[in-house]
Amino acid sequence: SHPTFLVTTPLPDPGMQMLRAAGDVVVPDRELTAEELTAVCSSGSHDVVVAQLINIFDETTLAAATVRGISNYAVGYDNVDVAAATNHGILVCNTPGVLTAATADLAMLLILATARRCVEADAYLRSGRFRGWRPELLLGADITGASLGLVGFGRIARATAERALGFGMTVRYTARRAVPDDDLGPLAGRVQHAEFDELVRTSDFLSLHVPLNADTHHLIDADVLRAMKPTAYLINTARGPVVNEQALVAALRDGQIAGAGLDVYEHEPDVADGLADLANTTLLPHLGSATRSVRATMARRCAANAIAMARGEMPEHPVNPEAWRA
Ligand code: GLV
Ligand code: GLV
Repeated sequence: SHPTFLVTTPLPDPGMQMLRAAGDVVVPDRELTAEELTAVCSSGSHDVVVAQLINIFDETTLAAATVRGISNYAVGYDNVDVAAATNHGILVCNTPGVLTAATADLAMLLILATARRCVEADAYLRSGRFRGWRPELLLGADITGASLGLVGFGRIARATAERALGFGMTVRYTARRAVPDDDLGPLAGRVQHAEFDELVRTSDFLSLHVPLNADTHHLIDADVLRAMKPTAYLINTARGPVVNEQALVAALRDGQIAGAGLDVYEHEPDVADGLADLANTTLLPHLGSATRSVRATMARRCAANAIAMARGEMPEHPVNPEAWRA
């Protein structure tokens, strides 16, 4: 049989070639609204949807859907109500692993850039204000000897830990339970488990690495920001809604914390009022996995997942394999 793929946004090479070699590919000529996504997924004419984080699959869309699978072009899948997908027998796939190093690099970049005021300094030079070396020009915070607190301890957090250790930081993490040294690989004996509250109170850099779900929504709120050190920095390469962004703007403005390095926002692509006016922030437009080779590898993985699902085979990266076992 000849499957049909709905591709909401064209994938980088070699994703589209792989899909076209395996079946028919339908690409809408513009970004689908929520209603259009629901309509097209329930039209009965596509086997699998190749989706992006901006495509929201809620209970309404999934209940009506006639597709057998969703291949998400991302490691995160908070755009899909996975429990509802499972209930409706729809398999969901993601692209784990291949973007771990690139995203950890970006977390490290945000730590360094924010602490050393990279964006501010660059703007200073470009505006023609640089008049020569000065003892107190644009002073920042130390990295070596500083403590990094990782909130969440998945692949990206661990890769960030390895980088931070290379910079002479001390690294602690919070997770449901301490990970035994035997399961820590190169991090064995070099990172410590801590309770969330302690991590918040004592870290010089607090970096977020949790998936977005009901438990982590607004995990970082006004109380948590108040509990951080006034010299501390918040780093977010995970998901925007993990942070109450309005509370963050207030905390940054009032000097409750020293700064923030962000790659994700609560209401992307919008950012909270006032955030972009603050000098003590580094603000990137969701670039964690944005290297040419990573995006190509994600495309290959995403296409392979879609093709397997279209053929009724269990793909390599299912999020909810039970959707098909049931
Ligand atoms: C990007 O945010 C991803 O989840 O891959
Ligand atoms: C995401 O891939 C993570 O496990 O951190």
